[in-house]
Amino acid sequence: MNINDNLSHLGQTLLVLNEFCTRRENFFAQMPQNSIALFKAASEVTRSNDTEYAFCQNKNFYYLTGFNEPDALLVLIKNKDQDNGNQQNAYLFCRDKEPLAEIWQGRRIGAEKAKMDYGFDDAFTLDEIDTALPELIKNKDHLLYCQGENQAFDLQVMAWLTKVKQAIKQGAKAPANLFDCAAIIHELRLIKSDHEITIMRQVNDISCGAHLRAMEKTQAGKFEYQIEAELLHEFARHGARHAAYASIVAGGDNANILHYTDNNDALVNGDLLLIDAGGELAGYAADITRTFPVNGHFSPEQKALYELVLKAQNAAINEVKEGNTFAQLNILVNEILTQGLLELGILSDDLATLIEEKACKKYFIHGLGHWLGLDVHDVGDYQVNTDKQQLRKFKAGMVMTIEPGLYIPLDDDSVDKKWRGIGIRIEDNILVVDKSINALGHENLTAKAVKSVADIEKACASTH
Ligand code: GLY
Ligand code: MN
Ligand code: MN
Repeated sequence: MNINDNLSHLGQTLLVLNEFCTRRENFFAQMPQNSIALFKAASEVTRSNDTEYAFCQNKNFYYLTGFNEPDALLVLIKNKDQDNGNQQNAYLFCRDKEPLAEIWQGRRIGAEKAKMDYGFDDAFTLDEIDTALPELIKNKDHLLYCQGENQAFDLQVMAWLTKVKQAIKQGAKAPANLFDCAAIIHELRLIKSDHEITIMRQVNDISCGAHLRAMEKTQAGKFEYQIEAELLHEFARHGARHAAYASIVAGGDNANILHYTDNNDALVNGDLLLIDAGGELAGYAADITRTFPVNGHFSPEQKALYELVLKAQNAAINEVKEGNTFAQLNILVNEILTQGLLELGILSDDLATLIEEKACKKYFIHGLGHWLGLDVHDVGDYQVNTDKQQLRKFKAGMVMTIEPGLYIPLDDDSVDKKWRGIGIRIEDNILVVDKSINALGHENLTAKAVKSVADIEKACASTH
């Protein structure tokens, strides 16, 4: 590294540090006076004797810290100071440095370095936690944490509270208000910062590349898991070490199982292949679905159904802009899919009646989309107040999937045989953008993964 590289690395580090400090500031701003908030990191999960699943950090904890070790605790304290006005402090409790454990399981950051590198006001080791927490909770009016998220942690919090209450006779006061702060953190996570959007663009680019590679590599006779291996290879070689969720690689009728992850069948000439897969980068998920022919050419029935799903999907994406709602998009998609299914003879009746009855839902059996971010099904309310109609208005910085599909299982004898065994979903990741920046009102983060019939047949052509 030369001096310029060093400076650029330092600049990057400061930018990232600033991002996490800003997120904590935003959370502090919503804490009541004289309160304490607790966020628990995830623990490792045993896969089988002496082996663990790949570690996945608790996303609320990660959002506020960027700290990726298990078992840590973030403590945020908002005090009213008589002399200095508001006082806010962020403390971390984390695993201690331990040479033997580090030889076996890997390096640990340790409290001292965590304090410096992650911008905490102070950091302590986990062996101090049971003494320190009752002291920190004591005399606060409000205790905030995400209730019910982690049962072991709920019990731990109660044990700390009990300890405070045991000291009441000595003059201690326990918080009277236990406050579930999940909704606060979820709302913050729903609107992505520029920093988050940059990462989401990257993970989507990588994941689009993986779908293109899958199109290139697919051939009849290969197994679904071999195509899954191509996806994972492409994610990892570009820095997305893990998939954001178990990849769905579903040939033919397997596509009619919505969360099919067995991925152990051979691909059949003449079938479609549905792939729902996305990488995870710096904690952020991509969630992309493409459906394409195993032999590189759509049959007339596959093409007709595919183009119908694509028409509905493009129409919905066009309406992703500030002020619109999922409810509006659903009305549009219902109209397009229902009319298309009627024209293909898959539905029959009066069009207006079919639309009124949402008849397409017999074949479009899941939701139109969901928020996307640190979680693939990301947090944030879809309803406003108590309505059940997804009337929440889109706002710049939200990222969502738009993923209509049509599924006609092989054993559905209510439709003509020629349609059976076809399952199609097309899923893109869409960022809502202020219209003064982008006249469309959105940016399709997954536009690089081709989806027109002609482009898909071209992308599949190299092996056929
Ligand atoms: N990959 C799961 C979903 O599309 O929601
Ligand atoms: Mn998906
Ligand atoms: Mn999805």
